[in-house]
Amino acid sequence: MITQQTELQYLPPDLKRELLPQHVAVIMDGNGRWAKSRGLPRIMGHKAGADTLKNLLRCCEDWGIQALTVYAFSTENWKRPREEVNFLMALIRRFLRQELKEMVQKNVHIEFMGVLSELPLSLQQEISRSTEATRHNTGIRFSIATNYGGRQEILQACRAISQKVQNGLIKPEDISEEVFEAHLYTAGVADPDLLIRTSGEMRLSNFLLWQMAYGEIYITDALWPDFDRNEFHRALSAYQQRERRFGKV
Ligand code: FPP
Repeated sequence: MITQQTELQYLPPDLKRELLPQHVAVIMDGNGRWAKSRGLPRIMGHKAGADTLKNLLRCCEDWGIQALTVYAFSTENWKRPREEVNFLMALIRRFLRQELKEMVQKNVHIEFMGVLSELPLSLQQEISRSTEATRHNTGIRFSIATNYGGRQEILQACRAISQKVQNGLIKPEDISEEVFEAHLYTAGVADPDLLIRTSGEMRLSNFLLWQMAYGEIYITDALWPDFDRNEFHRALSAYQQRERRFGKV
């Protein structure tokens, strides 16, 4: 892993800087299968997945990606066994504790998206601490979707806008795409250009439903803990071969 990082510290020469996606989103799937294939408990897959995420964040900084959004915990993930849910919450908290210093130094702007009020209090506190400490940072915008669901995000935007209509602040005819987007968790960030999903599954799984209207999707069979710089390089190469038309011919 370390050798690989040094080898690929700079943007690989076959990638064109001007054609890099500005915003990369990731569905980090396959932690359970990775652990199972090694005879380990599922949680060990999540632990390894957290290390993969650290490496990807560093890689995005090194290669000049402007925004990284990852799906850490969906609104449906509460249905998993309680020990696994608790482990994931503790893992995210520990990740923030361990990484905050470096994120501050590296000018990372960290954000969380989802229904944060339903998360354990100790995690909410860590989230406030890290978002507060990095809010003025101007480097990569790193968003962690936690207790996030795309439909829920759209509904909460509808509720917020309806309230403004009711209070006479907006007229229904003024509700444009821009107004709507300003009420999503991703307000102010360009839509993802590229969504990567690991472990071969071909679904959006309720992630960034509005924002992915025109985003490119890249699926790899690699399980999330195995997604290293070489895999990311392959995803970016594939992206650079695509012709993005946005509905035009
Ligand atoms: C899906 O794999 C993965 C998750 C539900 C959790 C993703 C979380 C991490 C990678 C932990 C690190 C996150 C942070 C922010 C520190 P799965 O368990 O569904 O895999 P499977 O489909 O093989 O069972």
